[in-house]
Amino acid sequence: MAGSGVFEEIIDGDVFKYYSEGEWKKSPSGKSVSIINPTTRKPQYKVQACTQQEVNKVMETAKIAQKQWAKTPLWKRAELLHKAAAILKEHKAPIADCLVKEIAKPAKDSVTEVVRSGDLISYCAEEGVRILGEGKFLVSDSFPGNERTKYCLTSKVPLGVVLAIPPFNYPVNLAVSKIGPALIAGNSLVLKPPTQGAVACLHMVHCFHLAGFPKGLISCVTGKGSEIGDFLTMHPSVNCISFTGGDTGMAISKKAGMIPLQMELGGKDACIVLEDADLDLVASNIIKGGFSYSGQRCTAVKVVLVMESVAGTLVEKVKAKVAKLTVGPPEDDCDITPVVSESSANFIEGLVMDAKQKGATFCQSYKREGNLIWPLLLDNVQPDMRIAWEEPFGPILPVIRITSVEEGIHHCNASNFGLQGCIFTRDINKAMLISDAMETGTVQINSAPARGPDHFPFQGLKDSGIGSQGITNSINMMTKIKSTVINLPTPSYTMG
Ligand code: G3H
Repeated sequence: MAGSGVFEEIIDGDVFKYYSEGEWKKSPSGKSVSIINPTTRKPQYKVQACTQQEVNKVMETAKIAQKQWAKTPLWKRAELLHKAAAILKEHKAPIADCLVKEIAKPAKDSVTEVVRSGDLISYCAEEGVRILGEGKFLVSDSFPGNERTKYCLTSKVPLGVVLAIPPFNYPVNLAVSKIGPALIAGNSLVLKPPTQGAVACLHMVHCFHLAGFPKGLISCVTGKGSEIGDFLTMHPSVNCISFTGGDTGMAISKKAGMIPLQMELGGKDACIVLEDADLDLVASNIIKGGFSYSGQRCTAVKVVLVMESVAGTLVEKVKAKVAKLTVGPPEDDCDITPVVSESSANFIEGLVMDAKQKGATFCQSYKREGNLIWPLLLDNVQPDMRIAWEEPFGPILPVIRITSVEEGIHHCNASNFGLQGCIFTRDINKAMLISDAMETGTVQINSAPARGPDHFPFQGLKDSGIGSQGITNSINMMTKIKSTVINLPTPSYTMG
């Protein structure tokens, strides 16, 4: 149960505390924020409504703690991260239970998220030791006009305070994908969890606390974005922001100062299906890609662009698989669970009604109970329908029938988003040509889009984001190059 056992100290009465200066605290505001269970639609948990004063304190201690942490040997930083990863995995059950209740993630997937997060932290430790243990050595006489009188030594040094803002759909995993790289690189870390998912995040942070990280190095402030959001992202002590989420990321990019930004802001991932594709493989990938976690993944398949000649067969195969999806509460480990909020369900419904009015073919009847929306495949979607372009973040998948590959590429590239895309064909040469033409950060050949494995580069073009993620890229992004140049009085090859 949340807030019990080793997690007892993170709760006071029925309100979870926030984490600052290595301690669990109550906000002097005396206010709290309620977290609504998407399934019951009733308040499930409460977290502190932190104020700007608490943010200031957290930033002040983060700056001080970082200076010491940067001087802590790399192998010791790695050792502590490995310890946190082990503690996190040991306590996967209560953390997964929070995910079930806060974001209605199916029970098994919730456990997978926590285990994947532990593995990600350990990989950060190992990768950090490797890539931060190396630097470059340059000599001056490779540039015209220079003798060999200068030796340049470069290494990677931390940025300072990293602000991490993960989204509701992977509150733990997308938090540690920022925390792990930041800490191994010698930064301190301030976490602002999403409201839905905040309690799972607080439990995860406690695992770092139990591992024995120095006081003030990691902090976690909860509260309303409207009160502390801008204050956090525009805070002068922040040296880097890593954000995953929606449009808010664009607003942050405009307001943030001259600091490195890592932003992942959603996608409209297209699945292009050619005539020669293995349609059984396509159908299972459409189900996995389009409907897992009820479509609430930035990398979900969000539009199928299938060649007219095989469209009928493919739609029948997908329909048969949709009929087998289980729909219900996350506790029962159903495939389709309630979407995160009522406003999200209303938005999805708006897209469905627009498609209905404009004549899309409904492969199933539309059904909704509260936040629970039954999986729906919409065939014969046309470009004038909102669902052809907008990201539903729900179990609704549009199919657009195309008559040429170029038409598919054109639709994909006309999107404001450019996260991932996928192509199904047996012709690898054609797949490579299409991949080159698709304006997305990643193209998957013969598989649905996905961020993992977590050490792969992960990036979006256009409105899908800035910077590249994945463990190695994140560690590099959260460091800067420092050079030391040794100047010799005479060219070094004059002796002997
Ligand atoms: O929602 C955005 C996530 O980065 C997607 O991650 O591909 O592992 O589901 P995933």
